Amino acid sequence: MITILAIESSCDETAASVCRDGRILSNIIASQKVHESYGGVVPELASRAHMQHIVPVVDQAMKTAGVEMDSLDSIAFTQAPGLIGALLVGAQFARSMALALNKPLIPVHHMQAHVIANLIDEPSPSFPFLCLTVSGGHTQIVLCESPTIMKVIGETIDDAAGEAFDKSAKILGLPYPGGPLIDNYAKQGNPKAFIFPEPQIPGLNFSFSGLKTSILYFLQEHQRQNPNFIEERLPDICASIQRRIVTILLNKLKKAAIETGIKEICLAGGVSSNSELRSALKEAGNKYGWNTYYPSPQYCTDNAAMIAATAYYKFLDGDFADLSAVPSARATW
Ligand code: KG4
Ligand code: ZN
Repeated sequence: MITILAIESSCDETAASVCRDGRILSNIIASQKVHESYGGVVPELASRAHMQHIVPVVDQAMKTAGVEMDSLDSIAFTQAPGLIGALLVGAQFARSMALALNKPLIPVHHMQAHVIANLIDEPSPSFPFLCLTVSGGHTQIVLCESPTIMKVIGETIDDAAGEAFDKSAKILGLPYPGGPLIDNYAKQGNPKAFIFPEPQIPGLNFSFSGLKTSILYFLQEHQRQNPNFIEERLPDICASIQRRIVTILLNKLKKAAIETGIKEICLAGGVSSNSELRSALKEAGNKYGWNTYYPSPQYCTDNAAMIAATAYYKFLDGDFADLSAVPSARATW
């Protein structure tokens, strides 16, 4: 039996999880509300909140799992990418535990872990598969040959899909993170009410910064004629923005599926809990004969269960780090 404690602290969630032989025994998350009024994550505040949360979160993860410290085989932590001050809190905590318990340390790449979230529950994709990872900081199409061999074959050249949601929400006067709010308002709106342009980016890369600008100009123009425009048409605006973001994502995913010939297709990352993206993937799956997958919502946004599951595969490969492993803004998968 291999029992691993994993810690995630790359952004604004302090999280800990225990897994045994790849099965998740606990998944504890403390979200940081402190950023809401700032319209985005404030790095300094995130680090401080991680310091406050990490001991109770790890304690609760161990208690929920019913696991004693001395039965842990390894301690894992998110090494990159992320806010450096935030990463340091989790890394240092994991390192201290590994040192005190004399257990091996496993650094995990956060983006690899988002992909691995698809392997936690059944049914899970078979290899090779494609994963569209869409989060607040990243938008990637990843070709996965095995749990530890992955290649990014397309990514955003500017903003991430989550940023496109959050920045649009900010322009609309909605609090951070705006993605889930846009998703909710869109449910009552008409996605064809307003048409936003689709960027023409070659290959499998994405771009979202032009969309943000076009939304800004569109709103300024309408508000000049009607100062209550946003208030009156919020569901239609949200539905139209969401429709464009989802079609940009799905069109590139289709292109990747054609180019690689792969029909096992997954979503990952915070934006993969978006209801329209999920239904659009299912629809495309039916149309193109894909088998489609997405993690349950608790494994889409940042969590430590995905770090624990990834660490399990790294453990099987004997891929450990010495205790001098440090977080870094960049790290290899
Ligand atoms: O993966 P994640 O939790 O953190 C990062 O690693 O960035 O992703 C957070 C992002 C935020 O941009 C948030 O607005 C977006 O995921 N998000 C959503 C939804 N739920 C979370 N975007 C659209 N629709 C949702 N339902
Ligand atoms: Zn993430």
